[in-house]
Amino acid sequence: MSSLLSKENFLKIGEYVYRKSGIFLEEDKHYEKLSKYVNKRVLELEVDNFRKYFYKLRFEDKDGSEFQELMNGVTVNETYFFREKDQFETLVNKVLPELHKNLPVSRPIRILSSPCSTGEEPYSIILHIIEEGTVVEQRDIEVVGIDIDSTVIKKAQVAKYTDRAVHAIPKDILAKWFRKKALGYELCDDLQGSVDFQVVNIFDKEQMRKLGKFDVIFSRNMLIYFDDASRKEVVMTFYDMLNPDGYVLLGHAEYMSRIVSVFTAKKVDNTLIYQK
Ligand SMILES: C[S@@+](CC[C@H](N)C(=O)[O-])C[C@H]1O[C@@H](n2cnc3c(N)ncnc32)[C@H](O)[C@@H]1O
Repeated sequence: MSSLLSKENFLKIGEYVYRKSGIFLEEDKHYEKLSKYVNKRVLELEVDNFRKYFYKLRFEDKDGSEFQELMNGVTVNETYFFREKDQFETLVNKVLPELHKNLPVSRPIRILSSPCSTGEEPYSIILHIIEEGTVVEQRDIEVVGIDIDSTVIKKAQVAKYTDRAVHAIPKDILAKWFRKKALGYELCDDLQGSVDFQVVNIFDKEQMRKLGKFDVIFSRNMLIYFDDASRKEVVMTFYDMLNPDGYVLLGHAEYMSRIVSVFTAKKVDNTLIYQK
C-alpha cells in the first residue's frame, strides 16, 4: 500500500501531536514511522483516506482512545535499568538524606518518575533506595511512574524484562531482586506493586495536579523530544508540583538553566540537580 500521508498531511498531524503532547515530530526522523502508523490505522478503522482518519482523531475521539493509539505509535520508549546511574547514587547519597533530615518523619517522601516508559527507571529508584537502606528503614517513600503511552505502562505493571533491559544491573543485585525466566527476567514478588504506575500526559494540567506534590522529580530523556516552549511549560509544571526545596533530576543531555531560572542548579559529584 502506498503512503496515505503526504508531506502536507505529515505537517498537519505533526502540528496536532505537538499541540496535545509537546512531542515535536521532524520529517527526516519521524515521517516513515508515522506514515506506516497512519496506513495501518486507516485499514483498521476502515476509513479510506487520511482526511477521514484525521477527522475521527480530532472530532469523534470522545474518550481519547484514538489519540492514545496515536501516541502509543509515535513515542520513543528506549530505557533500561540503572541508565545514567550517577543520578540514582546522587538520590540515595545526597538528596534523600537531606530531605529525610529536613522533613517531618510522619509524612512520606514522594518521588515521581516522569516519564517512566516500561518501568526500568522507577524500579531502579526503588532498588537503589532498598540497597542503600537507611532512609527507607526510618520512613515511608512513595514512587509514582507516569507515561503518556498506555502500552509501556501495562508492561511496567507486568515487570518482565529482557536481558538487554537488565544488562547494567550488578549481578548480585539482579540475583537478589529478579527471577530468571526462560526468556529474560521477572521482578521478584516483594517489589511487584512497589511503584504506582499511571497513564498521564505531562501537558494535561488536571491529570498532573491529581498526582499531588512531590519531593523529587526524575524527568530524563523526554525533554529532548520537545522544543523550548514545551520544555518550559513542562518544567514550570514540575516547579508547581514540587514541595519547597524539592529537586528535579534531568537526563545527562538535558539542561534547565537555558529554559527557566526558577531553580537553583547544584553540582553533586558528576550530576547536576535542580532545587526549587
Ligand atoms: C526515552 S523514554 C525515557 C524513559 C526514562 N525516563 C529513561 O530515561 O530511561 C521517553 C518517554 O517519554 C514518554 N513521553 C513523551 N511525551 C510524553 C508526554 N507528553 N507525557 C508523558 N510521557 C511522555 C514516551 O512515551 C516515552 O516512554
